[in-house]
Amino acid sequence: MAEESQKWVLMVTAQTPTNIAVIKYWGKRDETLILPVNDSISVTLDPEHLCTTTTVSVSPAFDQDRMWLNGKEISLSGGRFQSCLREIRSRATDVHDKEKGIKITKKDWEKLNVHIASYNNFPTAAGLASSAAGFACLVFALSKLMNANEDHSQLSAIARRGSGSACRSLYGGFVKWIMGKDEKGTDSLAVQLADEKHWDELVIVIAVVSSQQKETSSTTGMRDTVETSLLLQHRAKEVVPKRILKMEEAIKNRDFASFAQLACTDSNQFHAVCLDTCPPIFYMNDTSHRQASFLNLIISLVEKWNRAAGTPQVAYTFDAGPNAVLIARNRETAALLVQKLLFCFPPKSDADLNSFVLGDKSILKDAG
Ligand code: DP6
Repeated sequence: MAEESQKWVLMVTAQTPTNIAVIKYWGKRDETLILPVNDSISVTLDPEHLCTTTTVSVSPAFDQDRMWLNGKEISLSGGRFQSCLREIRSRATDVHDKEKGIKITKKDWEKLNVHIASYNNFPTAAGLASSAAGFACLVFALSKLMNANEDHSQLSAIARRGSGSACRSLYGGFVKWIMGKDEKGTDSLAVQLADEKHWDELVIVIAVVSSQQKETSSTTGMRDTVETSLLLQHRAKEVVPKRILKMEEAIKNRDFASFAQLACTDSNQFHAVCLDTCPPIFYMNDTSHRQASFLNLIISLVEKWNRAAGTPQVAYTFDAGPNAVLIARNRETAALLVQKLLFCFPPKSDADLNSFVLGDKSILKDAG
């Protein structure tokens, strides 16, 4: 290490977007390694919005690993953070920053501590996959800092140890998380099905109905589902494998009708599986009455619109929180969709409107 070692700090900043599953991951066959019961497919959002920015730094002056999320220190003692840190540390290689005169050898990394500062530009744990962007970003930034020469797929397998859905955020565009067969998890990783340019007329509109933390975390919810739901077993073995093949075809051919039909059906089955859990999980209704009716009305609005048009115009998908993700077939449809949403659910006051359109992705905030 460099002379006067107490004085130097080396840092790396990375930015990672979140992803939205269109064929859902729900259920683990191994909780420690985070191995899923089925494959899943997601769309990664525009990197400029709904993303996590993480700065990781290392210095001999740091006496322990520490982390801050949105400015507040959080504990790193959880097994998930420790797994990611351990996996990247074990792959660390020599780093030589000539400008700063810093030399860190593979051996030094075992003794050095890191500080991590992470910031989400969207509500944490409100069902908007904050852990997906968070762990993907953490693993990516650490791999750069420690010069771990792994490709994106290998990094995705490490990010998976932080949060399952995080493995899909290592890539842009359309991404598949292959569940893998190996019980050690070496083949449970993400691959890119198509890059972000492949189907760029799609527009994702997110109605952030509630930015409050969800009642049941995905981890606890999934555990209960695996233990109690027969419907999950049917879904994982019989339904999802066929759906994955059809979804890959739909993405490859930019076939919006199939894409929308598969995404909506899969979202509905995911929530049916949650209801089939003992005790039942109500992700869509676990909110105020007004907000719950808003979510249900969005489904009927989209269903009616699609039926009247003769072919799907918009797809909906709902994750583990009271927010609606709507995917419009193109920009014109997206504009119409936002108009319809505002007409059907007028904001209570100006302050409520809080709606903004960002590049190709529109976000309608605080609708209820
Ligand atoms: C409903 O990845 O948050 O969003 O692996 O326990 O951290 P853990 O769960 P997480 O679950 C995401 C579930 C989902 C569906 C999906 O993203 O595929």
